[in-house]
Amino acid sequence: MHPVLAAPGALPAHDDALPEYAEVTVTGGAGFVGRHLVRALARPGRKVTVVDITTPGEDITALPGVRHVRADLRDYGETLLAFRDTEAVFHLAGNASGTLSVESPRHDFQLNALATCNVGNACLELGTQRLVYLSSAIVYGTPRHSPIREDHPTGPFLPYGASKLSGELTLRSLHETAGLPVVIGRSFVVYGPGEDPSRAGGEVSQFLRWQLNERPILVVGDIDRKTRDFIHVEDLCRALLALAARGTQGGVYNLGSGTEVSMRELADAVAEATGRPALLEADKSSLEDSFSLVADISALTGLGFVPRVPLRDGLARLAAELGPFPQLPTTTAVFRRERTGERPLPDSPAQREQVVPC
Ligand SMILES: NC(=O)c1ccc[n+]([C@@H]2O[C@H](COP(=O)([O-])OP(=O)(O)OC[C@H]3O[C@@H](n4cnc5c(N)ncnc54)[C@H](O)[C@@H]3O)[C@@H](O)[C@H]2O)c1
Repeated sequence: MHPVLAAPGALPAHDDALPEYAEVTVTGGAGFVGRHLVRALARPGRKVTVVDITTPGEDITALPGVRHVRADLRDYGETLLAFRDTEAVFHLAGNASGTLSVESPRHDFQLNALATCNVGNACLELGTQRLVYLSSAIVYGTPRHSPIREDHPTGPFLPYGASKLSGELTLRSLHETAGLPVVIGRSFVVYGPGEDPSRAGGEVSQFLRWQLNERPILVVGDIDRKTRDFIHVEDLCRALLALAARGTQGGVYNLGSGTEVSMRELADAVAEATGRPALLEADKSSLEDSFSLVADISALTGLGFVPRVPLRDGLARLAAELGPFPQLPTTTAVFRRERTGERPLPDSPAQREQVVPC
C-alpha cells in the first residue's frame, strides 16, 4: 500500500456521529465551507471557536457555544493565541481561488502554505488532539487516469495546487517527525448555498446562476471530455467530521461524491432543476482543464461515509434557495497571466481583509 493511502477504519453504525470534542476550532469559519461546518458542529455543551481574519455574520456567532477570534494565521504568535484551549482544529482558512493564485502566487503561498505551517506547529506546541486539514484535489494536477485514488501522483499546475500541496507535505512531515495528529482531506468541487459568486469558480454555482438569469451557460473547455466530481457542502462537512472521528493519523482521503459528471450532463441537470431548457455557449479559448477529475472515495467510505445529497437534489435545493435572478458570477478561470509581476500585497490589516477573501 502506498504510504499516502489511509488504512480503512472500522465501520461505524452510522456515518454522521460527531467526534466527542468539547472544544473545537474552525479556521476559516467565516467562509463558505467553514460556515456550514460551524453549523454542523455547534451544539449545547460544545465550544466552537471560529478563527478567521474576517468577522463572521450573526447567523454564525449567534449559534450555541460559537465565538469568533480574529487572527491572521500568517502570524505565528496570533495563531498560538487563537488555538489555546482547543482539543481539535479543522483548518479550512486560506485562499480557495486558483485565479487569485495565478495573479498573486506569493500571496496565495502565504495564505495556504505559510499559514498551514503555522497551524501545524501551533497544534504541536499546544498538544492539540486532532487536526483536520482541508486540502484540494487540485494537488493531483492533470490526472493520468480517473477515478483517482489517493496514491495517484501529485503534480499541481496552478500555484494554488502547489501551495495546498506544500501545506499537506508540511503537516505530514510534522506527523512523521513529531507525531502531529493530522488527517488530510482532498476535496473535489464543492457546491451549495452560501458561495460568494464573485469568488466561486465552481461550475454548479456558475451554471445555475446564468440559467436563473436566463443567460446562456458559458462552458469553459470540452463539454463532454471535461468531467468533474461535485460534492454538496453538507456532504463535505459530514466527511470532515468522519475524518476527525475515525480518520487514520497521517492519512490522506479524497472527499468527493465518487460520481462523474460531464459539463453537458451538468447543464442538463441544471435545465431539469429549473424547468427550462439551457442555452449553452462554448468557450474553447482554453481547453486546459478538459480532463476527467473524479474521486475514488473507497478510503472515505471505509470510514462509514456515504454521500447523501445527489447532484439533482442539491441543484434543485440550490435553485430554490437562490431564487429568480440571483447575483451573476463575476469570476473567470485564469490559467496564465501576462508578465506584469504579482499584484502587490496589501500592507494594512484593513486592506488585507478586503483582499484575503479573494
Ligand atoms: N470551495 C471549494 O470548491 C473548495 C474545493 C477544494 C478545497 N477547498 C478548500 O476549502 C477551504 C475553504 O474554502 P472556501 O470555499 O470556504 O473558501 P472561503 O474563501 O469562502 O473561506 C476562506 C476563509 O479563510 C479566511 N482566511 C483566509 N486567510 C486567512 C488568514 N491568513 N488568517 C485567518 N483567516 C483567513 C477568510 O477570511 C475566509 O473566511 C480552503 O482551504 C480551500 O482551499 C475549497
